[in-house]
Amino acid sequence: MCTGLLAGVGAAPQDGAGTPWKVGTDPTFPPFEFRDSSTGTISGFDVQLIKEISRETGHPIELVALPFDGLIPALQSRTIDAAISSITITAQRARAVDFSRPYFQAGQAIVVRDNGPNLTSLDQLKGHRVAVQIGTTGALEASTVAGAQVTNFDSTPLALQELANGNADAVVSDVPAILYAIQQARLKGLRIAGEHLSLEYYGIATPINSALQPAINQALKTLIQNGRYAALYREWFDAAPPPLPEVAPALSQAKSPLAGLDLGVLTRNLLKGAAITLLLTVLSFAFGLLGGTGLAMVLQTPWPLAQGFCRIYIDFFRGTPMLVQLFLIYFGLPALLASLDIGFSIDRLAAAVAALSLNVAAYLAETLRSGIESIEQGQWEAADALGLSPLERMRFVIAPQAIRRVLPSLANEFITLIKDTSLAAVIGFEELFRQGQLMVATTYLAFEIYIAVALVYLVMTTSASILFKQLERRLRLPA
Ligand code: ARG
Repeated sequence: MCTGLLAGVGAAPQDGAGTPWKVGTDPTFPPFEFRDSSTGTISGFDVQLIKEISRETGHPIELVALPFDGLIPALQSRTIDAAISSITITAQRARAVDFSRPYFQAGQAIVVRDNGPNLTSLDQLKGHRVAVQIGTTGALEASTVAGAQVTNFDSTPLALQELANGNADAVVSDVPAILYAIQQARLKGLRIAGEHLSLEYYGIATPINSALQPAINQALKTLIQNGRYAALYREWFDAAPPPLPEVAPALSQAKSPLAGLDLGVLTRNLLKGAAITLLLTVLSFAFGLLGGTGLAMVLQTPWPLAQGFCRIYIDFFRGTPMLVQLFLIYFGLPALLASLDIGFSIDRLAAAVAALSLNVAAYLAETLRSGIESIEQGQWEAADALGLSPLERMRFVIAPQAIRRVLPSLANEFITLIKDTSLAAVIGFEELFRQGQLMVATTYLAFEIYIAVALVYLVMTTSASILFKQLERRLRLPA
């Protein structure tokens, strides 16, 4: 298979079968779908199965890597033609997409740390911290336990890392993926405490009434009958496949109606998210301003060593993505210290505020420095002539004028920060964007919800901009 995000596979196209089917997958779920670290291509049981189906139908496919919670919205908008991603067939999902016949039997498991609480059933999760992947059946199961503190991550490996780092007591996810992660990955000290909380079947999803479904089902049937499915199963799981039903039992249950958009719930969740976003912004800006002022001051001193240190700091935090900084602080640091046998865990809020303010400080340092340096030579000389000390000169003469000049840049920085706080979602922070994502994961109303999220951000940024304008007016010198 060729490398990259899009990879064409399959036999020569048949009549009318020229354009490849775009097949979405979230390649963070070994052994089903993952990026092969040596080749960079997407590999796994699911990937090989869909390639077999492609060969069987004579229709080429293109794999498209997407986040798991984005797959159903992508099918609804027909951005992709199918999705294979260990997607459990549920009655709720079957309202939004069509499923093929089951191609894999799985179930949920609770994973715990060897040295953590032994949680063997869903009820026992009450009062404990549970990490899950957003939009999965594991997340759904965990959210039904009253009193469990559930945190959603973008991928299952991140949820497992959270557990390994001691920031969660359990992960709820699919048994085969968990077994593989514990056996193959470098996650030490994890074990399955409760297995098969539920019986699940995976299906290939397509948009409602898609013409692909009969072809996929026919191909699956052939592969099961001619033994190729069993061979593939043995290759990956070293066992004979269990018999599969033709229809997932979940679909024979009465279909629960697709949760509609409850405006009350939407408003409540968005406000909750907005409050957290605001808290993150204000805290990080305050610390960032403090740090930035310190850095700008040091840059004014005649000490080359201190100046050099500040420059390295600024270059590092401006030159690396904030996302990487967040991961480094929240997931990287505890993992590194654990490997050195130093117990350390960092609180989510502390990690998010730390990463955001370290970053903001670097930007503000430059803004403030340019403000200070823009003050005319005459002002400095006048202050000196008045006999002011360097600190007094800064406090009474330079800073008041510099602040007035950099206020528009500070406003920019603040508005950027409001939006950048959405990155904290990756460490499981339920700020505004994540609140939206969580609602999409259960209602599949991506457009409506993300528009609402965007509007709330807009209200916040516009209000900030008005407030800064007023401040500017207030600080303006009388003409
Ligand atoms: N089977 C579970 C579900 O449907 C988890 C699937 C996760 N798949 C993935 N590629 N991340 O919700």
